Amino acid sequence: MINLNDVEPFAKGGNRMCFVHPLKKDRCLKVSFEGQSKKAKKNAAWYKKLRSAESFDDNLREQSAYQQRSLRKDNPNKWKHLARWHGMIETSIGPASETELVLDEDQAIAITLEKYLFTYGMTDEIKNALNDFENWLRSSLVLTKNIIPHNIVVGYEDNSIVLKIIDGLGSSSFVPLPEISDFFARRYIERRIQLMWSRINWDLSGRKGSWK
Ligand SMILES: Nc1ncnc2c1ncn2[C@@H]1O[C@H](COP(=O)(O)OP(=O)(O)OP(=O)(O)O)[C@@H](O)[C@H]1O
Ligand SMILES: [Mg+2]
Repeated sequence: MINLNDVEPFAKGGNRMCFVHPLKKDRCLKVSFEGQSKKAKKNAAWYKKLRSAESFDDNLREQSAYQQRSLRKDNPNKWKHLARWHGMIETSIGPASETELVLDEDQAIAITLEKYLFTYGMTDEIKNALNDFENWLRSSLVLTKNIIPHNIVVGYEDNSIVLKIIDGLGSSSFVPLPEISDFFARRYIERRIQLMWSRINWDLSGRKGSWK
């Protein structure tokens, strides 16, 4: 059991606290806030309320999203833009997911794409990184929910930015066709890419109106 009692989280999202693994400095441990799954169920659409509260737990949802078809394939590129998954582990404050901790070129914890865009704007470097990311989505067919800039972090490999998904893996399609068919996966992914740019432009233009 890992003791996280006196460890400060390095970040908090709406659902989870994120810690640097006390024994492995390149791993991230995420623990859901108490009552997160119950709250998520309460806020869900009526047709999703039939599911158990457990199925709303972010860590468990992520665990099954990492088992999606595209990630079971023998594709050496599939991890390029994705924090690697290392399973679930028991901690003193509840079950945690263990994933790769994404670092920047100075080995500090990577900032989010949102922070990058608010700080530096749409630089040529980030535009190239976004294009690489977009091409990878198309070729790997990895399914994500809507791609929001605070769920992507700015990692580095060989002195260039490599964007990594750290949250939001899986499919938000009501009918699960993209999970079983490449044809529907392609269509679904094109829509996620379109919405990703729409959300980025919305962020960059001061969040006026609606981004969808
Ligand atoms: N593997 C990682 N490497 C580096 N930073 C990370 C990693 N995972 C999470 N973070 C940081 O922690 C923040 C919160 O993590 P995460 O998005 O997983 O929490 P969440 O509660 O599920 O988020 P949401 O509010 O989107 O539901 C991220 O925005 C990012 O800044
Ligand atoms: Mg998040």
